[in-house]
Amino acid sequence: MYSPFTPVMDILKAIKKRRSVRGYLNKGIPEQVLDRVLKAARLAPTAANKQPFKLILVTDKQTKSKLVEASKRQAFIAEAPIVVVGCAFPEESYQNVGGTRTSEEIDISIVFDHLMLQAAEECLGTCWIGAFDEQQVKAILNIPPNVKVVGLTPLGYPSGRESKSSKHLERKTLDEIVLYESYK
Ligand SMILES: Cc1cc2nc3c(=O)[nH]c(=O)nc-3n(C[C@H](O)[C@H](O)[C@H](O)COP(=O)(O)O)c2cc1C
Repeated sequence: MYSPFTPVMDILKAIKKRRSVRGYLNKGIPEQVLDRVLKAARLAPTAANKQPFKLILVTDKQTKSKLVEASKRQAFIAEAPIVVVGCAFPEESYQNVGGTRTSEEIDISIVFDHLMLQAAEECLGTCWIGAFDEQQVKAILNIPPNVKVVGLTPLGYPSGRESKSSKHLERKTLDEIVLYESYK
């Protein structure tokens, strides 16, 4: 039963484990594992629970190669058995974030984050890909004009090529990012 008072697990471990993975093994993802990753994505919160998104799972080799071309030739993307493409629907989203904005890009970003954290828990790698040509990706995947492509990520087992990166978790300090009571 749902209880807000019971801690369920050490979420910080998954958060610390996740990193951008830019090298993948040629190894498939078991169905149950993929299912858990997608279910985590499905449970992400969205504004007014409108869920204005779809995830396209691309496994076809030729299509993955085309996505590499549309993503500044980031070749590692096609090494993964699956490339997830995050599509967002502006018309179906909450229209009044901050009184000025629609929610679809925020919504799908949270969806991707959920997906990536469960992937880390499953020992799978991901890497948010924001450097892509949206029109090219839309043409490759037959995505309609009113749908936005917000991000892509490869999903697969890491090759381990960059697991020793010293830049991992290099972040601004809390003092640099947290303000108390007001901006100044
Ligand atoms: C919106 C966004 C776009 C990104 N685009 C790319 C990309 O096109 N290619 C890439 O290799 N990494 C990309 N990244 C990954 C970031 O470079 C990475 O998350 C950051 O350097 C921190 O490293 P970490 O993910 O290993 O913690 C992107 C990340 C975000 C959030």
